[in-house]
Amino acid sequence: MESIKIKVAGELIHARAGETVIHSLWNAGKAELIKTGCVGGVCGACTITVRSSDGKMKGTDLACMCPVEDGMEVFPCPVDSALSLAPEPNPTEEKLRKAFPKIDKCTKCGSCTSACPMSIPVMDSVLRMRSGQLDKVADDFTTCIHCGLCRFVCEDGVQPHMMGMWIRRSIGSSLEKDMGKKLDQDLGQAELEWKYLLEGTPVDRMNHARRFRKSGEIEL
Ligand code: SF4
Ligand code: SF4
Ligand code: FES
Repeated sequence: MESIKIKVAGELIHARAGETVIHSLWNAGKAELIKTGCVGGVCGACTITVRSSDGKMKGTDLACMCPVEDGMEVFPCPVDSALSLAPEPNPTEEKLRKAFPKIDKCTKCGSCTSACPMSIPVMDSVLRMRSGQLDKVADDFTTCIHCGLCRFVCEDGVQPHMMGMWIRRSIGSSLEKDMGKKLDQDLGQAELEWKYLLEGTPVDRMNHARRFRKSGEIEL
């Protein structure tokens, strides 16, 4: 396999064409240079920015998914974790604004969209948040790996991924509540039906069973 050279956090690494940045570090015994988690492109732990051999910045990437290229320079980009807020059932634009007042600081620069390794239209989604289209936002962030790059590049301190996650969790918690209520209702109804079918004289029970089979209903 062709041998190439890359630089990671200022250190020269001998790599093999075809492997990813992370695998080249493992093979070179330098795993500590970039944090890893899943090594499958889903956790966002291994975020990097990349400069190609011609000196051009290639933007952000995930080291476990990024193939090595001769002469490339890789800058690890660990993003500090941010405090996540508890979800609120039935989220609204007002509740979102209260939880994340910096939402209105967005200057529509587009850096977050360019930085996102999952191609999420982050800036458009922030604008959707501001106009209350929260269901659409929840869809936008379905593939978010929470790498934090959109927060990292935002000079205005907006936290798109934190808002996206809060919206998804808030909508999810509302659904769970509704589903729980529906389950209680269903169980209550089933109990009444069993009572109707099993209680009374043998003739009552036969008549009840006939009626229930025919109409699916019980007499209360
Ligand atoms: S990087 Fe920040 S200011 Fe720029 S579009 Fe994204 S959220 Fe708005
Ligand atoms: S939306 Fe932000 S946190 Fe989510 S994957 Fe994209 S850059 Fe990473
Ligand atoms: S290690 Fe999880 S995305 Fe790279």
